[in-house]
Amino acid sequence: MSETVTLPRPDDWHLHLRDGAMLTAVAPESARHFGRAIIMPNLVPPVVTGADAAAYRDRIMAALPAGSRFTPLMTLYLTEETDPADVVAAHESGLVTAVKLYPAGATTNSASGVRDFTRVHGVLEAMAEAGVPLCVHGEVTDPEIDIFDREAVFIERVLDPIRHATPGLRVVMEHITTQDGVAYVREGGPDIAGTITAHHLVINRNHLLVGGIRPHYYCLPVAKREAHRLALRAAATGDCDRFFLGTDSAPHPDGAKESACGCAGCFTAPNALSIVAQVFEQEGALDRLEAFVSRNGPAFYGLPVNEDTLTLARQDAPVAYPDRIDAGGEDVTVFDPGFPLHWQVT
Ligand code: DOR
Ligand code: ZN
Repeated sequence: MSETVTLPRPDDWHLHLRDGAMLTAVAPESARHFGRAIIMPNLVPPVVTGADAAAYRDRIMAALPAGSRFTPLMTLYLTEETDPADVVAAHESGLVTAVKLYPAGATTNSASGVRDFTRVHGVLEAMAEAGVPLCVHGEVTDPEIDIFDREAVFIERVLDPIRHATPGLRVVMEHITTQDGVAYVREGGPDIAGTITAHHLVINRNHLLVGGIRPHYYCLPVAKREAHRLALRAAATGDCDRFFLGTDSAPHPDGAKESACGCAGCFTAPNALSIVAQVFEQEGALDRLEAFVSRNGPAFYGLPVNEDTLTLARQDAPVAYPDRIDAGGEDVTVFDPGFPLHWQVT
């Protein structure tokens, strides 16, 4: 008997679409399945002003297939020079959905991010007042802190102080990877949510490092030990409605990943929903899938649930998806979950 699950069309609450030939190649992969996505602003140079976001939005719309109803939800990249009035105006006009905080140096193209958090206090206060959510890359950059501890230390040293100093600020702790992140969101009340990627639900740090280094499993925050992966699965499939899917699909050309100093990022747009459906099936939680991929995100962002639907069908034959796609003559490897997928988006 074939089993199907029909959901309000899912959204992706954390997505890298890049620019130029890469944008042209990857935008259709997300638009095929998702209704909306929060678009990361870490271009080179970054998307820092409302004018930058408007121009980038136009380039994304031009890269979508004819007839696509995919809606990019734009973000601004927070710098120490960000103008609070520009942020509030861009949000009020509907152009910008959220602002993204990258600690300087934490990840790909984060050099313009924040070094001194006291210098963004004014803009965070204006965002709290105007109801503009802050999306956070939650890792400290202190070289003394072990890379596997950087999320937990960020919560204690940066995120919790910011939230105490800025009551009412709505925060999305993005791509959480630890039990600490899960607990902080769960216990943090209605103004904090957490996104979880497809890849962090299926890999731990052994997948990255045992039997050879796997550059296509390298992402930031880096995958942690198994107990953390299990905590993420429990959070995604559990009863707290402030966890939702943000794929962090982050394409890089294979040459940049399979390198002596490989870039962070897993390209999951083509198979993220198949992976997540399979995880929910494995956890006996298919009835909770709709909350995680279609309902909790819009609820936190104060947006309507998508009106159209998407159907996943369970099939015996493994779902076919490409090993890699072409982006302007360069290969981009699609994330391999390491097991056959059986939930096909129909
Ligand atoms: O793995 C990642 N890739 N993590 C990030 O935070 C950035 C992203 C990218 O832009 O490639
Ligand atoms: Zn990201």
